[in-house]
Order: sequence, then C-alpha cells, then structure tokens
Amino acid sequence: MEKLLCPSMMCADFGDLAGEVSRLEGAGADLFHLDVMDGQFVPNFGMGLQDIEYICKHAKIPCDVHLMTQTPGDYVEKFADLGAKLIYVHAETGPNVARTLQKIADAGAKVGLAVNPGTAAATVEPLLNLVDYVLVMTVNPGFAGQKFIPFVEEKIDLLAAWKEKYGFGMVVDGACSPEVIARLSRRGVEGFVLGTSALFGKGRAYKDIMPELRAL
Ligand code: DX5
Ligand code: ZN
Repeated sequence: MEKLLCPSMMCADFGDLAGEVSRLEGAGADLFHLDVMDGQFVPNFGMGLQDIEYICKHAKIPCDVHLMTQTPGDYVEKFADLGAKLIYVHAETGPNVARTLQKIADAGAKVGLAVNPGTAAATVEPLLNLVDYVLVMTVNPGFAGQKFIPFVEEKIDLLAAWKEKYGFGMVVDGACSPEVIARLSRRGVEGFVLGTSALFGKGRAYKDIMPELRAL
C-alpha cells in the first residue's frame, strides 16, 4: 500500500524553518503534520498560529493540523483559512464531535478523527461515516519522544477491518520508529507521523532517511 509520510513539524529546527520545509519536501514528504495544543486537552503547547500560517503558505505539499484542543469546533474555520487541507479533531472532545467533523467538511478541508490510546474502536465507529482519515494515537498525545503503546495495535486491526466499509485512511501518530512503520504498514496503516523516532535528530539527511522509510 502507498505510504503517506507526514513529518511532525513540532520536531523541526525552528531556527531554519524555511530550510526544514524545503529539505523535507525534497526528501519526498507527502504531508506536513502540524500539532496544535491548548494546555488543557493536553498538558503542553504545540505550534503557534504564526508557525502554522508560515508553513501552510510556504509549503508546496499539503499540511494537516492535529488539534489537541478542548473546543476544536471553535477554530475549524480559522485553520482552514490558514491553509490546512486536513483537520484532525479528537473523538474525546465531548458529545458534539459529529458536528465538529461536519464543520471541517463544510470548511472545505479533509476530515480527520484523532483517537486517544484509551478510546475503543467501537466508541468511534459511528463517526467513521464522516471521516476521510483516522489518526490513531500510539502515544498519549502532546509530546514527542515518548514510548509506543503496544495495546493500541488491537484497535488498529479492528479499524483496518472497517476501512473498506466506511472508506477512510488510517494514520498513526506517536513513536513511529522504522520497526513500527514496517509492522503497521502490513496491518492496514498507510500514514505515519514522523518525529524523533524515525526522522528528526538522527544526524542523517532527510533525503537519505525518507526513501528508506518509504521502502519498509
Ligand atoms: C505526538 C505528536 C507527534 C509525534 C512525534 O502528540 O503528534 O509529534 O509523537 O514523534 P515521536 O513520537 O517519534 O517523537
Ligand atoms: Zn500529532
């Protein structure tokens, strides 16, 4: 299956964001993954609006935004206006997720549903009618450099069995090492958020690493 390689830009060198964007595009990245956090839904702050705007404006490839925020529905239009082509909101943000997913579609972006490690596949099944991509969190959201959570693999198998019926793609986010990419790309996962486990801080050029990851 064709892979979607999505560099997580919160791991990039912000001292040279323009260079990072062009090096990653030159290395064959498919989609930039932009993490937004509100300090409430997750105990951290991700990229700022200026970062999102800059990357969406200067990138040649599409950008997603991963809204790790309590009230994502309030900001869907904002991020669509900034240029996000895929907007992920979390299934855990309360009773009106279906309305928020509809808002993303109405704003003209692809619809993404992010699912935390502790959320069951059955809980989100009805929402799968509304989404283009499911972002399966394989770490607790909010921080790079964490350990992969193995029990999530059972949920990945359940979701993979529903892909055809509901017509969505599956992306995993968190601790995507080469081993994880090799294993999960054989279990129905096409997209991988690439952070410190596979791409950044390796002391090697992105143009050397990315083709290796794509070939796994
Ligand atoms: C997690 C973030 C990602 C990712 C980083 O909330 O969305 O940035 O985990 O990649 P790793 O986990 O490989 O450092
Ligand atoms: Zn993310």
